[in-house]
This record gives sequence, structure tokens and C-alpha cells, in this order.
Amino acid sequence: MKRKKVSVIGAGNVGASLAQHLVMGGISDVVLYDIAQGVPQGKALDMGEACPLWGSSFSIKGTNVIEDTAGSDVIVITAGLARKPGMTRDDLLHANASIIGVVTAEAAAHSPKAVIIMVTNPMDAMAHLAWKSSRFPAERVLGMGGVLDSARLRSFIAWQLDVSPKDVEAMVLGGHGDQMVPVRSLISVKGVGVGSLLPDAKIEQIIERTRNGGAEIVALLKTGSAYYAPAASACEMVKAVLFDEKRLMPCAAYLDGQYGAKGVYAGVPVILGKGGVEKILEVPLTPDEKAAFDRSVSAVGKLAGLLGLA
Ligand code: NAI
Ligand code: 2OP
Repeated sequence: MKRKKVSVIGAGNVGASLAQHLVMGGISDVVLYDIAQGVPQGKALDMGEACPLWGSSFSIKGTNVIEDTAGSDVIVITAGLARKPGMTRDDLLHANASIIGVVTAEAAAHSPKAVIIMVTNPMDAMAHLAWKSSRFPAERVLGMGGVLDSARLRSFIAWQLDVSPKDVEAMVLGGHGDQMVPVRSLISVKGVGVGSLLPDAKIEQIIERTRNGGAEIVALLKTGSAYYAPAASACEMVKAVLFDEKRLMPCAAYLDGQYGAKGVYAGVPVILGKGGVEKILEVPLTPDEKAAFDRSVSAVGKLAGLLGLA
């Protein structure tokens, strides 16, 4: 079987942690690209030296040369600024847009068949920008947000009930921003609806904590934002594409009428396989959930509009 190649653009906290998952987990060869001289090379060397201990036969190369990413199966974009305390994801819009527009076009030109997974915030607008800059079909450009937000929600429910997080299912839809939509009707423990396991007030408290999940970590770290769970989330998506797993995951995808939204990227349940977004599932939402989804999508649309994308 041909070895898979994943390029991670941005060798900061999320990018380097993702690279570690991929190499340590025996998933793919990795190229770690960053604008900072020496940083991707140093981190890649460090991880390469860990391979005998990880029992990994995969390689990692750190570089400042975009040509080294050529022929990638998947490109994950984590380059740009992260939040500091007091900042929202949306505050990063213009600074990160100037980075993402250029870096995506360059990376896409060298890997014309790749699937692009956007991580950089504000993620939905950056995914939209990456789609435009790459000139790829929309199904090959998607964003990571819902997998992370759902993992946070699943963890909070599991901790509250003292059950394994593996047995908790949940989906957070809409934009990866303050108006994200943790879909209460889709939270279950092995199929048992959360409404029969926890009182309403507790569920609402957990939903609110999920919406603030990123900010909670920023407030604790003070110098940056979360990266362990984000890297693990991106890794799940990379695996689904590389191994054509056809997993059902909440991902930011281009909406062309689904859920009543058109011409915008937002988090929806997708089937993720080797072609990227192979299908968008339209799951039933309660009227309140649909109204919240519409508000969230409208907020994302405004950001895309500020970049002249909508
Ligand atoms: P970081 O600051 O640790 O790393 C960012 C890296 O990007 C730095 O190494 C920097 O040198 C590099 N960079 C900047 N300009 C570049 C360019 N033109 N080309 C290549 N590399 C460039 O930040 P961290 O924590 O890794 O976060 C990265 C981004 O991901 C942020 O925008 C953050 O908000 C976002 N994020 C999104 C999540 C999501 O769920 N979608 C979750 C966590 C973070
Ligand atoms: C998070 O949710 C900052 O988007 C990032 O942690």
C-alpha cells in the first residue's frame, strides 16, 4: 500500500501536536511547514528521534519550503494567530485571512488532489477563504470545529454521569464560534437520551460550558489556546479521509441549500471519506435548535461577508 503523506501547515501548538499524533500513531508521513525559521525543523527532528521509541516507521520533515509539501493526500492548516485572553475567535479574522489566503493557494498548487482541513480561526470563514483560494471543489475543503466542540460536550456529560466518554454521543453544529449549537436532542449515552439521565438545568449548564469551552482554556493558559483536544480532533478527520472510513462527523462544510443555508461554510453532520465531504446529512432539529442554527450560520455569513466571500 502506498504510504500516505500529510502536510501540516503551521508548526505551533496545534500543528506540532497533530504531527505527533500522525507519526506516533503510525498513520502517515508528515511534512511540518512553518514560516518561522528552525521551528518546524527542530520539532520534526525531535519527533523523528522519538520514532524508535514510538515504534513508528513513518517519517517527519520540518521545512520552510512549501514545495516540500508537494503530493500530499491531506493538508491541515493551522497557521496563524491564536486567541489570547479577552479575544474572541472572530477578532482573528483579518490577521489570519492575510495568512490563510496566501498559504492555502501555495499549498493547494503543489498538492492538487489533496483534501484540505482548516483549523485556523475563525475557522468557518477561513475554510470558506481556503476553498476560494485553493480553487478546489468544495467537497475537498472542510473545517475542524464540530469534532472538538462535540468531544468537549461528550467529556462534560461523561464526567457528570461518571461514565466512559467513549459511550457518550453528541453533535455540535453551526459555526465554531460563540453561537455554536450543541444539539441537545442528539446527546445520548449508548442511545439513551440525556433527558432521562440528567435534569434540564444540568444539561443547560453543560451546553453553556461547551459554548465557552475554548475560552475556558484560554483563560487558564493565558498565553494561547487549546491544542491537545484540537489536535486529536483534526487527527480523527485526517484518518477518516486517508483510510476512506466514511465516518459521520460534524465538520464545517460548504452549504448549498442544506439546512436552508446557501453559499456559506458551517458545521453540519457529514460523511467523511477519501473524497472529503462525501455527503451532508440533514438530521431533524427541533424548532429551537433550527433557530439557533440559523443564528449561528448568519453570524458566520457576516464574517465571510467582511472578507468579501459571501
Ligand atoms: P500557535 O501560535 O501555537 O501556532 C501558529 C503557527 O503558525 C506558528 O508557529 C506561526 O509561526 C505559524 N505561522 C504564522 N504565519 C504563518 C505563515 N504565513 N505560514 C506558515 N506558518 C505560519 O497557534 P495554535 O495554538 O497552534 O493555533 C493555530 C490556529 O488554530 C489559531 O488560529 C487557533 O485559533 C486555531 N485553533 C482552532 C481550533 C478549532 O477548533 N478550529 C482549535 C484550536 C486552535
Ligand atoms: C478552541 O475552541 C480556540 O477554537 C479554539 O479551543
